[in-house]
Amino acid sequence: MPRSSATSGGKGSARRIAGARSLGEGGQIASPIRLGDVGGSAEPRWKTGLAEFDFVLGGGIVRGSMVLVGGEPGIGKSTILLQVAARLQKAGHRTLYVSGEESALQVKLRAERLDDDAGDVLILGETLLETVLATTSKLEPAVLIVDSIQTVFTGDLESAPGSVGQVRECAARLMRFAKETGITIFVVGHVTREGGIAGPKTLEHIVDTVLYFEGEGTLDHRILRAIKNRFGSIDEIGVFRMTANGLDPVANPSELFLGDRLNHASGSAVTALLEGSRPVLIEIQGLAAKSGFGTPQRVATGYDSRRLALLLAVLDKRAGLSFSQLDVFLNVVGGVRLQEPAGDLAVATALASSVYDRAIASSSVFLGEVGLGGEIRPVSQSERRLAEAAKMGMTTAYMSERAIPSRLPKGIHPTGVRTISDLFAKLFA
Ligand code: TYD
Ligand code: MG
Repeated sequence: MPRSSATSGGKGSARRIAGARSLGEGGQIASPIRLGDVGGSAEPRWKTGLAEFDFVLGGGIVRGSMVLVGGEPGIGKSTILLQVAARLQKAGHRTLYVSGEESALQVKLRAERLDDDAGDVLILGETLLETVLATTSKLEPAVLIVDSIQTVFTGDLESAPGSVGQVRECAARLMRFAKETGITIFVVGHVTREGGIAGPKTLEHIVDTVLYFEGEGTLDHRILRAIKNRFGSIDEIGVFRMTANGLDPVANPSELFLGDRLNHASGSAVTALLEGSRPVLIEIQGLAAKSGFGTPQRVATGYDSRRLALLLAVLDKRAGLSFSQLDVFLNVVGGVRLQEPAGDLAVATALASSVYDRAIASSSVFLGEVGLGGEIRPVSQSERRLAEAAKMGMTTAYMSERAIPSRLPKGIHPTGVRTISDLFAKLFA
């Protein structure tokens, strides 16, 4: 092929380029190089050794990156970052922890509870951003932790710390600082239950990586979720347990989530969710109980209530289960939020199981999206889900015929089901 065809010019376009050249006046001419000739290679990532934390980041910490750790107050953001600080410091990466939330003494008292020794971590109680940056420039740590972005402020703006303007400006400057110095920065951002004003939401597009800490206040485990990651995949989760000595990574989340399951109770069904790259088994509990006077209640925890209403309508219309006189409670166990449609079938089954008051075999797992016609649709990556189910001792999987993989993990037998009434006939006949 003649070269000119690639640059397909013609007189017209030459004239247009000549005309546009004036727009670049005053600019310097730089020299791009072939992508293949770009030198250097990615630096190895730093590992904290907190396996779940490294995993969620995409395999460790990237030098010069900025990571936002968001979550509700009290969820454990300061705790995990102090553990991270202790471990990085131990591994020879000098770490500066700037706290605007708590005094140095309070941080020290917290550190003393932890298994990790944070004694060598540098601590600075400061909220003026200019001072934080000047101090950091002087100390040249490898890692800077700012707890929290809502407490720091720049003297250049008149608005109060925590206001949208301050939070944004401080985050943008920290980001520039990270890129220019190669210092890795972690910032804490509080979110309120409602999603938070002036909180992490406004920061997500500024930083490289956003991790959210989630969990039910009353439960001791926490889920760390990557919702943005320039250096790894999103929707990865890491599971931790809050102990008296800090957060402990949970290597096998399925075990934790299924741990307290009652074997012979009705209204319970298990599904395998895909959280990022990793499948996790989750128990769904449904309770349908005769309602008192007035409109029956619909209460969903960890599940979208509109989705619940829709499934109830499908169960009514397609499987003949009427909920009009019943209060319905749905609970995704373990403080997990069930967002994947793949969990529909387990939700529908848990509810039906409660209505019939018939328990489901505890070694069964349910994988499928439920359509408006009551049809069971295939789930993605069924092989990985089945593998996790098999690993956890599940022996039967109910799912769409079309999702049954050709290579089956050992020990688990899929049963193809077309519709929910088809499934319920098998389960409750
Ligand atoms: P914290 O890290 O202060 O939360 P955040 O920074 O997100 O506001 O965590 C606070 C909670 O964690 C508090 O209720 C005490 C509890 N905690 C433990 O249970 N064990 C521990 O080792 C530590 C340090 C805290
Ligand atoms: Mg805190």
